[in-house]
Amino acid sequence: MYKLKKLPNGFEYIEIKNSSASAKIALNGAHIFHYQQTTKEPLLWLSEISDFENEKSIRGGIPICWPWFGMNKNENLPQHGFARMSLFELTNISELAPNNTQVSFILKDTQESRKLWPYSFILEYTLTVSDKLSLELKTTNKDSKDFKITQALHSYFKISDILDVAIIGLDKKPYLDALTMKDGIQDGKISFDTEVDRIYKEVDSKINLIDKDKIISIENKGSSSTVVWNPWIDKCLRMSAMKGDAYKRFVCIESANALDDFKIIKPNQTHTLKATVY
Ligand code: BG6
Repeated sequence: MYKLKKLPNGFEYIEIKNSSASAKIALNGAHIFHYQQTTKEPLLWLSEISDFENEKSIRGGIPICWPWFGMNKNENLPQHGFARMSLFELTNISELAPNNTQVSFILKDTQESRKLWPYSFILEYTLTVSDKLSLELKTTNKDSKDFKITQALHSYFKISDILDVAIIGLDKKPYLDALTMKDGIQDGKISFDTEVDRIYKEVDSKINLIDKDKIISIENKGSSSTVVWNPWIDKCLRMSAMKGDAYKRFVCIESANALDDFKIIKPNQTHTLKATVY
């Protein structure tokens, strides 16, 4: 079952319920902000004080960072690109099975987008809501020249307490510490007792987020970089749409193409970034 819902301010989202899971996906940013397997608690963290407005990104869920991840060299351009603030077109909803619903969106270049990024493109995003959540983000170059993208599926995972979680699967991987701009090599599991903002490279296997009573798994395709982020106390207080103690209840593990894992896409060629979380 699914329903298209609209808030009084015109913000539209799709609500999905099937026998395996439920989900809510906004047309603005094609942003999934709720996903929950039927017998479990929500997988994604969502800020209690998030905005739900067109042209703004929701704080939590899985924003799409595209066509660049992080800051652009031109500091007047929005951090993490413009896709997360753009209205996507809903192209398809299919109930493939009683436990499997698939939703597809498309974003194409406009006069406005070309002011920010001067290329013609098609961005297609398909979400499959079942006992796993699968996300497929396909970029097609519709321009006459090559273009370069970096990107991320910026997943905010809901956790019991930041002090009680660990990430495994990135041991021995090189990373760039975005706080110091120094390179490092991961030694063992990742746990948190301070701000962490790192881009891991050469990522080639499943990542597990171990919490007290659950394990969240992330599998990626078309991506060899993963961002791990928690703002900790001071940055959390400075973040928009985030309560002061919100850092305790989420960790971001972002399936990315970042740093030297950028993609150059030739005219009429595509690149697909895929993440499956459960
Ligand atoms: C992460 C970055 O991906 O996103 C952080 O590594 C950043 O540096 C965070 O603070 C949130 O960004 P934003 O633009 O959503 O506030």
